[in-house]
Amino acid sequence: LMNNLQKEGSTNLRQENCRAKGGSPGFKVAILGAAGGIGQPLAMLMKMNPLVSVLHLYDVVNTPGVTADISHMDTGAVVHGFLGQQQLEDALTGMDLVIIPAGVPRKPGMTRDDLFNINAGIVRTLCEGISKCCPKAIVNLISNPVNSTVPIAAEVFKRAGTYDPRRLLGVTMLDVVRANTFVAEVLGLDPRDIDVPVVGGHAGVTILPLLSQVKPPCSFTQEETEYLTSRIQNGGTEVVEAKAGAGSATLSMAYAAVKFADACLHALRGDAGVIQCAFVSSQVTELPFFASRVRLGRNGVEEIYPLGPLNEYERVGLEKAKKELGGSIEKGVSFTTGSS
Ligand code: NAI
Repeated sequence: LMNNLQKEGSTNLRQENCRAKGGSPGFKVAILGAAGGIGQPLAMLMKMNPLVSVLHLYDVVNTPGVTADISHMDTGAVVHGFLGQQQLEDALTGMDLVIIPAGVPRKPGMTRDDLFNINAGIVRTLCEGISKCCPKAIVNLISNPVNSTVPIAAEVFKRAGTYDPRRLLGVTMLDVVRANTFVAEVLGLDPRDIDVPVVGGHAGVTILPLLSQVKPPCSFTQEETEYLTSRIQNGGTEVVEAKAGAGSATLSMAYAAVKFADACLHALRGDAGVIQCAFVSSQVTELPFFASRVRLGRNGVEEIYPLGPLNEYERVGLEKAKKELGGSIEKGVSFTTGSS
């Protein structure tokens, strides 16, 4: 009997109904790429999030195992697994938030742009599914190169007539997490007390930490500024090299993804004053997409803050960032428009 119940998913349905009656303010969240290096710890952490009532785990491999494993955690969220493209629509239907860490990661010597050819197609397919099955969902896009995959997603949604720029967010949270950590090390402070705005994009020189705007206010020597900027920009490569062929950041990324997703869920719930950095459709610069501090609300991005006063070092960095970022955005846009 137990086997049959589990096969039909009836226990899960009964749990969902029971919890819905309890009035818990849960959201439905899907992770696409849930069996991967980021996807697995991300799934575990989302299962622990009290704002999640239903968690859908989708991948093209291994989701039955990951789902069985995660589903034994005695936390509130009910977990369902989906395997292969024929189950993508079921995975997406009814979702409030979709987190996408699907795609290949870097190996030593690779830039994020080297991933373009494989990941662009994956992101396009997944976003077509979102347009069809949950066009109102908030999308947290992690798959690299984020500087190009976000423009790809936007084009897919535009074509489907479902594009709402407020709901599409490229996840740059790991850059902020790293910046907070490295700055705290230099200052000898607790990283939990540090807030570093990181703007621009998510690759190399497009990652621009605004060290003149760190909270609490502090100052750095030129040497510290150069060391910190370079370490924050190359944090991902530091991990890729240390893993020596076994992939890129997964655990710190899962942590950062959950920090960001949790902010989105609090905003969806109606909490005020939820502010994070993200790579979004933006008029902060002349580029169509840019990462900066944004205020999140029930509809996604509700306000985009200007960059604020920059020092000379940051102004030079900004020009470099914009130059590279413009090309990456263009590459994403033409991938979709050139492939009708
Ligand atoms: P991984 O290779 O360990 O996992 C990727 C997962 O995606 C695999 O389970 C794979 O089966 C799945 N997948 C492949 N094609 C798919 C499809 N069509 N639909 C659904 N799932 C599919 O890679 P990892 O380490 O988890 O990284 C995932 C992505 O995240 C990479 O593109 C990586 O560059 C990116 N990343 C982004 C960061 C950021 O700050 N935004 C930081 C670190 C990684």
